[in-house]
Amino acid sequence: MNTIIIYASKHGTAKKSVERLEEKASASIHSFHVKVDKIPSLEGYDTVIIGGSIYLGKVQKELMKYTNDHLDELLTKKVGLFLCAGHPDEQQLGKELHDAFPEALLNHATVKEIFGHEFDLSKLNFIEKFIVKKIVGITESQFALSEEKIDNFAEQLLI
Ligand SMILES: Cc1cc2nc3c(=O)[nH]c(=O)nc-3n(C[C@H](O)[C@H](O)[C@H](O)COP(=O)(O)O)c2cc1C
Repeated sequence: MNTIIIYASKHGTAKKSVERLEEKASASIHSFHVKVDKIPSLEGYDTVIIGGSIYLGKVQKELMKYTNDHLDELLTKKVGLFLCAGHPDEQQLGKELHDAFPEALLNHATVKEIFGHEFDLSKLNFIEKFIVKKIVGITESQFALSEEKIDNFAEQLLI
């Protein structure tokens, strides 16, 4: 079983999730950052994981473009979808997941999950810090990535 992970991460939470998925995989797995790496053809892969993170309600636009451009091919693969997102309201998190991926891919996916979030104030720029302090009310760093959710995701898809 060959697996590819295509992801986007601004401050490293989604990247940490990818690294944990890599550790958990029992077979070959290759990961590519959609903004940095050249994404290879999906031809040699039977399982595809796509994941990103949410900023101001939206997933990275490059990830959205990738899933839209490759939708037909993705629908022929075993697919897992994940997000890192820190909104406190479950309903809003559900909406963010729904808006991040095409409907057909959400329906097709074997597993879809929100792994949690981190607000690491030391990594944020001035504007981001302002947003999370004034709008979201975060005054201290938060580290709330769920290893349990990542491991469950891996078990359903990769083992
Ligand atoms: C400026 C800013 C805006 C954010 N906006 C949202 C948001 O609208 N909804 C949400 O669920 N999480 C939001 N988050 C939380 C991020 O999704 C969370 O920090 C995530 O762990 C980032 O993952 P990354 O480091 O892989 O990019 C925001 C975070 C920052 C710093």
